[in-house]
Amino acid sequence: MKALKGNIIFTSSPEKFEVFENSYLVESKGKVYGIFKKLPQHLKNIKIHNFGKSLIIPGFVDLHFHAPQFQNIGIGYDEELLEWLNKYTFPEEAKYDNEEYAKRLYKKVAKEIWRNGTTRVSLLSTIHRNATEILMDIFHKAGIGAYVGKVNMDRNSPDYYIESTEESLSVTKDWILKTKDKYPLVKPIITPRFVPACSEKLMRGLADLAEKYDIKIQSHLSENQEEVEWVKSLHPEYETYAHVYDAMGLLNEDTVMAHAVYSNEKEIELLAERKSFVAHCPNANYNLASGIMPLRRFIDAGVKIGLGTDVGAGHQVGIYKVMSQAIQASKIKWLESGKKEEYLTTSEAFYLGTKGGGRFFGKVGSFEKGYSFDALVIDDKNLGDRDIRSIEERLQRFIYCGDDRNIIKRYVEGKVLCEPI
Ligand code: GUN
Ligand code: FE
Repeated sequence: MKALKGNIIFTSSPEKFEVFENSYLVESKGKVYGIFKKLPQHLKNIKIHNFGKSLIIPGFVDLHFHAPQFQNIGIGYDEELLEWLNKYTFPEEAKYDNEEYAKRLYKKVAKEIWRNGTTRVSLLSTIHRNATEILMDIFHKAGIGAYVGKVNMDRNSPDYYIESTEESLSVTKDWILKTKDKYPLVKPIITPRFVPACSEKLMRGLADLAEKYDIKIQSHLSENQEEVEWVKSLHPEYETYAHVYDAMGLLNEDTVMAHAVYSNEKEIELLAERKSFVAHCPNANYNLASGIMPLRRFIDAGVKIGLGTDVGAGHQVGIYKVMSQAIQASKIKWLESGKKEEYLTTSEAFYLGTKGGGRFFGKVGSFEKGYSFDALVIDDKNLGDRDIRSIEERLQRFIYCGDDRNIIKRYVEGKVLCEPI
């Protein structure tokens, strides 16, 4: 057992922060044991790490990150989604056929994710099985919790970056069998790229694998207007884009869909009914001029939401950046809706980037008893006076003005994460 001492702040629900000034966050067996103002007698002998005035917060959770696109961030944003995929994304992803290339660049990805305090992440790799296994190994060594998906695509894709249906299914099955029990914190996740790139046969086959081996699922949904029209023309028989995934057996409580910018009431209702997660990725939605997700409508409908950087459509790795972008996006939506759709508060945005997305990983993203001891220590002395500000104000200031240099320690399941090599 051990304790971190400092100013502890987290959200167990979206409405408000829980604040414990100058207190002890106690860990036992990788989980949160409790928070104490004074250590009780039976804990008097445990090791204490005193972080003084620093803030202690849950680790960040990123529900959507394309590892091979890290190399492309900041590039190609003059295009919208479909052109961007063809011109920039597919040519870069195709290079991961080369294992040396994958090893070199995926190590950089792990370093940046570590640096920015993300302790749990849902990653997409490429169609290449070997590079996907390399990515899993790198995240395991880094100690970061991760779902890692080998991407599947068997139609409407360039001939240099496509699989046959049979090959895609058989390779995915072998890869799942090899990796599903290999690591404690890194797991495979089924990853059909999006409806336009996956045949019905492939999607149904992937759904069978997910069910048979109890594997989570991630994909993209209603991100861009042209994309939504394309899906409608490919599958006119279904009510919405999400209804296609649902009919294929891919929409359940172990599914996370990125974006959902153009979801109508029917689609939102279905996502709520299926208890699926949505990864809100405002940074990416701005860069590719996709639009602004009507977040409040999802929250009101009871859809489970987390945040995603969507690197490389998003250009920043820090989930704290996405928190402020989600707030900004919601304020535009609020104005556009005639001030009807309430904008996000800071505690709501913080919740989405910690416990909201953390629910996809289990008891993650909060300091309630029994939650994974995933924590960050934030030294904010360079951001302004600490003594005249409340703990809540200091956290807000870090979200808006801080960066990776303020993150001085990272823990996952109670273990300190060293910088990945
Ligand atoms: N839709 C299908 N593939 C992608 C991708 O790589 N990035 C984003 N943002 N959307 C997608
Ligand atoms: Fe994406």
